[in-house]
Amino acid sequence: MDEKAWGGRFGEELNDKALAFSASVDVDERLAPEDVEGSIAHVRMLAAQGIVPLEDALSIERGLAQIAKEIAGGEFVFSDAREDVHMNIEATLTERIGASGGKLHTGRSRNDQVATDMRLFTRRACEHTAQAIDGVLAVLAARARTEIDILMPGYTHLQRAQPVRLSHHLLAWAEMLGRDRGRLLDAAKRMNECPLGAAALAGTTFDLDREATARALGFRRPMQNSLDAVADRDFLVESVAALANCAVHLSRIGEELVLWSSQEFGFVEMSDAFTTGSSIMPQKKNPDMAELIRGKTGRVVGDLVSLIVMLKGLPLAYNRDMQEDKQPVFDAFDTVNDSLEVLAGCLATARFDGERMRASLREGFADATELADYLAAKGVPFREAHHVVGALVAGAIAEKKVLSELSLETLKLGHAAFEEDVYEALDFERAVERRCLVGGPARAQVERQTERLMGELSARAVDVAEIAARLGVQETTR
Ligand code: ARG
Repeated sequence: MDEKAWGGRFGEELNDKALAFSASVDVDERLAPEDVEGSIAHVRMLAAQGIVPLEDALSIERGLAQIAKEIAGGEFVFSDAREDVHMNIEATLTERIGASGGKLHTGRSRNDQVATDMRLFTRRACEHTAQAIDGVLAVLAARARTEIDILMPGYTHLQRAQPVRLSHHLLAWAEMLGRDRGRLLDAAKRMNECPLGAAALAGTTFDLDREATARALGFRRPMQNSLDAVADRDFLVESVAALANCAVHLSRIGEELVLWSSQEFGFVEMSDAFTTGSSIMPQKKNPDMAELIRGKTGRVVGDLVSLIVMLKGLPLAYNRDMQEDKQPVFDAFDTVNDSLEVLAGCLATARFDGERMRASLREGFADATELADYLAAKGVPFREAHHVVGALVAGAIAEKKVLSELSLETLKLGHAAFEEDVYEALDFERAVERRCLVGGPARAQVERQTERLMGELSARAVDVAEIAARLGVQETTR
């Protein structure tokens, strides 16, 4: 069946350029396992319904199983002339078992076939990426536990703002990625319906058991409208949107690692295994991996844009445009999975510099709010307190001092309400500990959040200790 599969009507071969333009097998061969899986479910159902004789169905299934084995072993030869993964597999099957191979396609079209393959693939891919996210969460949880003592400035506008714990910052990353995980799994749930039986667009006259194929493939139910079943790719948009969101989170984390590992910050030193040198400047240790995690985000956002623009304006039902859905989907999953794996390694092996963080807290007047709160607690209206402390900060800067180095006399010149106990308010540890509400940076809260995350991971059978050991998670540094 190397002549056109839709044969009869055509007297002439497809133009070479047109064939090359429309062949997709170099991309969609990746769907081969799903394609075989879907075909086996379909042919078993055809036999059970008495649509195809049992012997034929058995020989089709054996042929498909053999093909699946060759595909898994990398021995199966795909041919461009056979256009896509579906035609490659079916043509090889028929070549081998004879004309009865042609019965596989009874009551089916490549339209519902490819929609089924993509749902099977994407459902699995979402779950796989969710696991990769768990790998990063495990590292973050492990490090949040060990770095609990390190204080650092929290920032707004990239200006030192108020003291937090490093662990609190790491757990913020965990929250972001945790939501990405949730979005992927939500998408996997929503896409979990089976297009098989929709055929080209209008279903089929054969008495298919759509419930049976849906069940066999682990779908919740058959899709409820045959036009929609072959025409929509919203499930891909949803998944890739979740991936784009995740990539943006990864990019922001990457950006912070780049900043923190600069000499200006000096908050972190990335391990040799995840940095590179310069071919000309011997002193350099560049955070390339963090930069690439940031840089690859553009691709994933591009993948999302490709997909949604491809769909926009398509009339129901199937249109060949939709063949262009695969590359962006594969690329988005691959890119995010790689980034997650590399980030896990970067975070596991990074050495945080607690002293540098503390020094930048001191120099950054991150205790100014404490001083204002101190006055406010003594009954000074907060707006006035804010103004008083602002003037004290300006004076300290002029004298090249930090707030805790100002004498009580100087403070009293600012406001008479200052007493000796003000210096306790200027202690960073206490400042952090006073923020002991849910979601705050106080030790008890951060520990609670770390243990909650650890608990969630272990409920999902994620072995944090194993991951930490395998990736070489660092113990507290300085
Ligand atoms: N390779 C095609 C795709 O991915 C399969 C469906 C082809 N259907 C058709 N009517 N030409 O969309």
